Amino acid sequence: MQIAVVQGDISTTEADVVVVNLFEGVTSPGGATGAVDRALDGAISKLIGLGDIRGKAGERTTIHTFGKIAAPRVVVAGLGKAEDFDVDAVRNLSAEVARACRKPGVTHVATIVHGAGIGGLDPEACAQALAEGAALGAYQFLRYKVESDDDDKAALERLTVVEHDAGKVAGLAAAAERGRILAEATNLARDLANEPANNLNPTDLAARAATVAEAPNLELEVLEEAEMEAKGMGSLLSVARGSVQPAKLVCISYKGRGGEGYDLALVGKGITFDTGGISIKPAQGMEAMKADMTGAASVIAAMQAVAALAPKADILAIAPCTENMPGGNATRPGDVVSAMNGTTIEILNTDAEGRLVLADGLCYARELGARHLVDVATLTGAISVALGDQCYGLMTNDDTLAKRVESAAEAAGERAWRLPMFKEYGEQLKSNVSVIKNVGGRPAGSITAAKFLEHFVDGKPWVHLDIAGVDMASKDKGWVTKGASGQVVRALVNLALGFADE
Ligand code: BES
Ligand code: MN
Ligand code: ZN
Repeated sequence: MQIAVVQGDISTTEADVVVVNLFEGVTSPGGATGAVDRALDGAISKLIGLGDIRGKAGERTTIHTFGKIAAPRVVVAGLGKAEDFDVDAVRNLSAEVARACRKPGVTHVATIVHGAGIGGLDPEACAQALAEGAALGAYQFLRYKVESDDDDKAALERLTVVEHDAGKVAGLAAAAERGRILAEATNLARDLANEPANNLNPTDLAARAATVAEAPNLELEVLEEAEMEAKGMGSLLSVARGSVQPAKLVCISYKGRGGEGYDLALVGKGITFDTGGISIKPAQGMEAMKADMTGAASVIAAMQAVAALAPKADILAIAPCTENMPGGNATRPGDVVSAMNGTTIEILNTDAEGRLVLADGLCYARELGARHLVDVATLTGAISVALGDQCYGLMTNDDTLAKRVESAAEAAGERAWRLPMFKEYGEQLKSNVSVIKNVGGRPAGSITAAKFLEHFVDGKPWVHLDIAGVDMASKDKGWVTKGASGQVVRALVNLALGFADE
């Protein structure tokens, strides 16, 4: 989406739709809304008088202008009560407006920055959220809708943000550009997660990562199976054995500080399809497992935004990518494998494969000198039992890093919720034959998965994010779109940007 901030008067701006706003309880609109009202001979005030426009949150009124102003339509967006309005509301409103504008003949929307006037919010934060919301809300995955009708194909192409005060334009433009970058990265993660597994195997995913790594300040390394073998990554390779598709370990490096090692490594689970392996999953709903690489997609996409925003920090993304298939060479329940750090693992359930690939991914991040580790994974069904889709699970060995991740999520309009990591939970992983087994039984399933991962972080500050409850959405809601939700990508970028202050 093309996004521009211009100095001007919204009531004379040319666009397919002009968007202004109204807080609940306001009877005579001021500012930009007032200017449009006057240009329309008081149409907005009259509709307020009639009770047809009340400014309630979620209310949207389309007024046809029949030549009175340059734009053929005005949308008055209700903002609700001023005291309830915040930056998250700006993002969600902007997304809803973008979707409402999805119709044939509408490609260009002009809007003012919501919330910065009587809302009293920081104008630049609002401009960023406005841009993010529009680009996130307009997202659709249409690649295979070859015969889609005009309504399906309609897409918002251009957003013009109109600001009256010339002195504010540059700051708002920089903020909107930040928002656009964050949203485009999120949309890339969505594209990857929505892609069916027949067209996105580990080799394809590595190729998509290579496209991201074409940015001049990124470097790509892809380890092949022979190299993984040489490094002793028996845990990751044990998952790949059942598939004819070769595993790939994708690493993208960004050196904005140019120091030793990395301030932060983002490690993402990249199971391009999870059948469960020999411990095969039930048929019902298995198609959702095409998105079992959302962690990998998120860390790869986050690097696209990191490269574009260029913070003075050193950031690494690692994505262990493989299918989990029940082929003739597949790992059997009872097999014992050894991870890169020498930890032996008894595999009792081949469907607990995410932790197996992350184990070697985390070890490799440490070998490359990562000082903080954050892994992201659609790791357990148990996390949606515990938390539903309201937040993702956060498990950690480090309070400070946990708080940083929580604030990064909050700034993105997301919620990370912490689960306990008492050492007793680790006892559920005791194996009779090896150091640990890969499942800890039904109780606290998400936590024991995290306890498993803790064996591979070398005591370094680490956060595990279990996104299995939030990675897919069943309907559009605010900035979250149906299918791959795009959650966590902007949180990861925010976190990475924070390392520039040190
Ligand atoms: N990819 C799944 C987790 C998952 C389930 C993600 C549902 C999204 C929706 C993971 O690999 C898995 O199968 N986990 C098992 C672990 C169990 C065998 C210990 C699970 O959650 O059932
Ligand atoms: Mn599984
Ligand atoms: Zn899985």
